[in-house]
Amino acid sequence: MAKTPVTMETIVNLAKRRGFLFQGSEIYGGLQGTYDYGHYGVLLQKNIKDAWWKALLQKRNDVVGLDAAILMHPKVWEASGHVGTFTDALVDDKISKKRYRADHLIEDQLDRQVEGLSNEELTEIFRENEIKTPEGKKADWTEVRSFNLMFKTHAGPVADDESAIYLRPETAQAMFVDFKEIQASTRRKPPFGIAQIGKMFRNEITPGKFIFRLREFEAMEMEFFCPPAEAKEWHDYWLKERLRWHIEDLGLSKGKLRLREHTKEELSHYSVRTADIDYEFPFGYAELEGIANRGDYDLTQHAKHSGKDLSFFDESLGESYVPHVIEPAGGVDRKVFAVLCDAYTEEADEKGDNRVVLKLKPSLAPIKAAILPLMKKPELRKVALNVQQTLSDELMTEYDETGSIGKRYRRHDEIGTPYGVTVDFDTLEDKAVTIRDRDTQKQERVAIVELAVYLSTKLRA
Ligand code: GAP
Repeated sequence: MAKTPVTMETIVNLAKRRGFLFQGSEIYGGLQGTYDYGHYGVLLQKNIKDAWWKALLQKRNDVVGLDAAILMHPKVWEASGHVGTFTDALVDDKISKKRYRADHLIEDQLDRQVEGLSNEELTEIFRENEIKTPEGKKADWTEVRSFNLMFKTHAGPVADDESAIYLRPETAQAMFVDFKEIQASTRRKPPFGIAQIGKMFRNEITPGKFIFRLREFEAMEMEFFCPPAEAKEWHDYWLKERLRWHIEDLGLSKGKLRLREHTKEELSHYSVRTADIDYEFPFGYAELEGIANRGDYDLTQHAKHSGKDLSFFDESLGESYVPHVIEPAGGVDRKVFAVLCDAYTEEADEKGDNRVVLKLKPSLAPIKAAILPLMKKPELRKVALNVQQTLSDELMTEYDETGSIGKRYRRHDEIGTPYGVTVDFDTLEDKAVTIRDRDTQKQERVAIVELAVYLSTKLRA
């Protein structure tokens, strides 16, 4: 059966209604570019991160982990090129006093790609065309200027140039700065990777599209260090492996994913070649993860700026080289968004009424089993809480006795709980419970003593 098309509205409403995500600082009117994860959002996000750690750390021997400080020495960002080049082109409307991304306005209204154009060239396009505000209003544009996306703050009590530092705009730099330390302490030699999940901050001019473009977000980045001659081969390898991960481990539909090569103009200042894994969001295809060949750019830059030797001495070759780096880097929030869109389904329930169900891969589901006494009765509650106790060592469960059993099934369908475990009056006699399958809505009777093994086996399948 064809799936109902998913709209932004349905996803945003579901996320809010079921407490996956809220606009940040909502009671004060919200803070643009920030979202807060509620209970089920936290669990879903954690399961996505666990799937990433599992694929990189648990199932292989050539990647190690890192959790570096968000605040780094300001010289890091000079060496990395972020102080000089991490900018967006912006333009101000003198009438509304609002500021916009110049490239977005041109791309949206003239359907023209402008990557690589200078600010002067962009300004010329604004002069030659009648570009309106995104709301369709007439505007009086300033010249196009560069705007650095890093958030600046100060370390210590004195706010002057000496104390200026930045909130990191990518986690990657710590993997380069700590390369030698990690390589020596973990006794690795290239090819090997360093992986990190963490918050990053970008002062995006136009945040929006729900959690697609935020000012504070989280990324999962891996820097894979390899001998220069192997970089091309490893890049091809990681493109395939990361695409596999999105399909098999995240359960995203193959038909909604595509690989897109960056054009020469679009490449970041550090990149030799980049290809993105794009997902077809409700607003169209957009980047989920970028897989870049950063060459030796970062290690060479940090060696130059710090005066430290960041090359690797290969004993078997008897020579030193600066490793090249392949970087798969993806946003956690965009993966949460894609997973919600992909899992969202509207279909008929057992009675023929419409039901919303999140057909999440069981390993990603926030709650694996809902423990549901048929009625709010002390004798059923006692058994149901015991059942939960026996399962909670192995699984994330939720005890739920409020509302009719039908309403509780619907609630758990909407948060993607794969199994409902119902304790009824027969349970008091036969010591068995009814298991309801989220996707098929079929019910099965299972003995309580066999429940943990039954559910673990089903959830692994
Ligand atoms: N170290 C490489 C790097 O930072 P990037 O493509 O700029 O590359 C990595 O960012 C990933 O972070 C992107 O693929 C995207 O999924 C996510 N991302 C980037 N900007 C974002 C934003 N403003 N809000 C949410 N996620 C973002």
